[in-house]
Amino acid sequence: MNGKLIVFEGGEGAGKTTQIENVYRWLQSCLQVSYTVKITREPGGTALGQEIRTLLLGNHTPSDRAELLLYAADRAQHVTQDLKPALTQGCIVLCDRYTDSTIAYQGYGRGIDLQLIAQLNEIATQGLESDLTLWLDVPAEIGLLRAQNRGKRDRIEQADLAFHQRVRQGFKFLAQQHPQRLHHIDAQPPESQVHQQICSVLKPVLQPYLK
Ligand SMILES: Nc1ncnc2c1ncn2[C@@H]1O[C@H](COP(=O)(O)OP(=O)(O)O)[C@@H](O)[C@H]1O
Ligand SMILES: [Mg+2]
Repeated sequence: MNGKLIVFEGGEGAGKTTQIENVYRWLQSCLQVSYTVKITREPGGTALGQEIRTLLLGNHTPSDRAELLLYAADRAQHVTQDLKPALTQGCIVLCDRYTDSTIAYQGYGRGIDLQLIAQLNEIATQGLESDLTLWLDVPAEIGLLRAQNRGKRDRIEQADLAFHQRVRQGFKFLAQQHPQRLHHIDAQPPESQVHQQICSVLKPVLQPYLK
């Protein structure tokens, strides 16, 4: 595949959506004209996924395994319908959450067996890994406060603080296990400083695509 899959990970309110938009704008100005950038997200990158997202974040109370399988179904559709075709066409894909979120939330957060999650991630992705993942890291309390100020909190955001602290710990373990792929970004400073950190990680990786 010719494109690049760049994933933005992190807890609630870390600034993933904000920074994806900033990177999109930055790439519009410095990318060679022959390349296309796409923004997408999980859950909800496809029309089917959008319905799954509504089920996941709404008022239902899925069991831990039902939740895991819904995320996997969303991912399977997203990989087949959007990610693989876009990467084959040579696009740079900016994706809000991917496989590491499932490990952090359903594995470390909910306590589901990590090997089971790895198997399910493999089934859903057919082996498609990110080229680079940026872990936007803020203390759980700060992220939750930001998410709260943004507006109505969804089902996951309403989970208790200890859950979100386990999720953060999960991302920390993942960053230690995959130092080549997963980059730690301190997401606590103001937005523009976080953007600068992200650009300095992305520049060398995207060098062949830039003007
Ligand atoms: N670096 C930052 N410092 C302070 N507030 C921020 C920062 N980045 C984003 N925000 C604000 O925090 C809230 C959550 O950001 P958002 O990008 O939606 O996070 P996420 O997508 O990771 O949940 C938004 O209101 C956003 O404007
Ligand atoms: Mg977001």
